[in-house]
Amino acid sequence: MNRQTLQIHYTLFNNAKELSEQDSLLLDKARQASENAYAPYSDFRVGAAVLLDNNIIVTGNNQENASYPQGLCAERVALFSAMSQYPEQKILTIAVYGNPKHFELEHYLSPCGGCRQVMLEYEVKGKQKIRVLLAGNSGKIMMIQGMDNLLPFQFSSKDMNM
Ligand code: THU
Repeated sequence: MNRQTLQIHYTLFNNAKELSEQDSLLLDKARQASENAYAPYSDFRVGAAVLLDNNIIVTGNNQENASYPQGLCAERVALFSAMSQYPEQKILTIAVYGNPKHFELEHYLSPCGGCRQVMLEYEVKGKQKIRVLLAGNSGKIMMIQGMDNLLPFQFSSKDMNM
């Protein structure tokens, strides 16, 4: 037996004023996108804003469906939209804003496992660590640099001998 410990790194901010102007703007785009979420079943609105290395920002929000599993998270709506429009670009940063209608989040929005896996795919594809800014209507913000810190024990194209 060989017991191991894994360390992850993240940065916490008290509010958006502590962020750079560019990060603060990106987060605001994510917040704005959350306002247009189609979330009639959960009322849990989420917005995401993806910054590409050509400086273009692509946003998305969660899209729900009466047949629940057919809905999609904000992160994946934004990531798929960005990569379908700008397939050659690298993703620099994704900001995610959780904005439930009827309560205040305790912390920031923590992306689901499926969205982390999709972020990993594009990080490996772009050979560029993705910065992740997580926030919500609590006002608290977390910044994570690279998917090693958000998704441990990864499965990616590297595991498929590619
Ligand atoms: N949701 C997101 O958009 N992103 C996440 O990371 C977590 C959950 C959405 C999916 C669903 O529409 C609603 O939030 C409640 O789960």
